[in-house]
Amino acid sequence: MTNPKYDGLFKPFTFSNGIQLDNRIILAPMTNYSSNEDGTVSDSEVNYYIRRSKGVSMVITACTYVSANGKGFSGEFAGHTDEMIPSLKRLATAIKEQGAKAVLQIFHGGCMCPPDLVPNGDVVSASAVPAEQEGSPTPRELTDSEIESIIHDFGETTRRAIEAGFDGVEIHGANGYLIQQFFSPHSNHREDRWGGSLEKRLTFPLAVVNEVKKVVDTHAKDPFLVGYRFSPEEPETPGITMKDTLALVDALTNENLDYLHVSVLDFWSKPRRGVEDTRSRIEIIQERIGDRVPVIGVGSIYTADDALKAFETGIPLLAIGRELIIDPDWVQKIKEGRENEIITKLNRDDQEKLVIPDPLWQAIMNTPGWFPIED
Ligand SMILES: Cc1cc2nc3c(=O)[nH]c(=O)nc-3n(C[C@H](O)[C@H](O)[C@H](O)COP(=O)(O)O)c2cc1C
Repeated sequence: MTNPKYDGLFKPFTFSNGIQLDNRIILAPMTNYSSNEDGTVSDSEVNYYIRRSKGVSMVITACTYVSANGKGFSGEFAGHTDEMIPSLKRLATAIKEQGAKAVLQIFHGGCMCPPDLVPNGDVVSASAVPAEQEGSPTPRELTDSEIESIIHDFGETTRRAIEAGFDGVEIHGANGYLIQQFFSPHSNHREDRWGGSLEKRLTFPLAVVNEVKKVVDTHAKDPFLVGYRFSPEEPETPGITMKDTLALVDALTNENLDYLHVSVLDFWSKPRRGVEDTRSRIEIIQERIGDRVPVIGVGSIYTADDALKAFETGIPLLAIGRELIIDPDWVQKIKEGRENEIITKLNRDDQEKLVIPDPLWQAIMNTPGWFPIED
């Protein structure tokens, strides 16, 4: 039996479009580098999702690229052509059969795409500004019609998600990829309708939202979720500040989205600049949004008490990433009153038991400090 102090985490949640979640815990979107060469989902990746879709109420998939020149990771699955619909359907079905809602994260990597993953090595972005990481290629500035075409691609992948049986899409506007590149004064130096002022830097993100929503209105017969993920702040100057983030949040709140999802590594991380406030970014954002749109919080939630503490801030939904890789039974353990059995460190011998595909396992093992690992 669930320890009553965690009961709130297991209260059902209903989105304004009527879609109901069984509890408040969501699998965070996590790239697994494990799709097939042809862009279809692989057996190992589908098995990884099946292993993690039983306790959570909703699974947000790894990102899928909407345009050929938006592929950001090797082994990223494709969502940019109709030939991929059966592959997308396989993933949606596998997740839904375990009882969770399935949401496809839709993405364009922009200047973060490795040249060898995009046609002719032609890496594109809002402006010809490379990412800060050393060795990043200088992207080519997109033309006006290319921008329109990528917006259309976000809509087309949404249509494919509907046809494949997903319950929704999440627009990946976070983590420094193309949508964020348009919003950021660091990467967007345009002087046309896509850049210049903060308002104009919002044009591309909002155009993507509008296109996706238009496609949903036209094609979805059943309620279909549209969420948006964003990162508060950028470390660079110029770069997105907390003040800019709140302007983005205000704009998104007016778009009738089903949820907003904050991307941070630590739920309790505080603003660097842009506001005089000692609370965490998530708390500030949650307060700004109020009950206008449900917010998903995330970040370094490992134990049941970590989740409870985050939930007690008033945030309605929590996404869990690394911890659900480390312990796929995390939700069930809390639900069954076995929260003391939760494992919070990855054991180097457990890859098979945890159903983690090889490329993801290698990435984790080769990136010290990313995951807590048992020594
Ligand atoms: C292996 C891995 C892959 C990730 N891939 C994505 C992704 O495709 N899209 C995304 O929005 N965030 C991605 N993230 C970020 C997570 O969704 C999450 O925000 C972050 O890991 C913090 O949450 P956690 O502490 O619960 O892991 C990834 C994180 C990990 C660990």
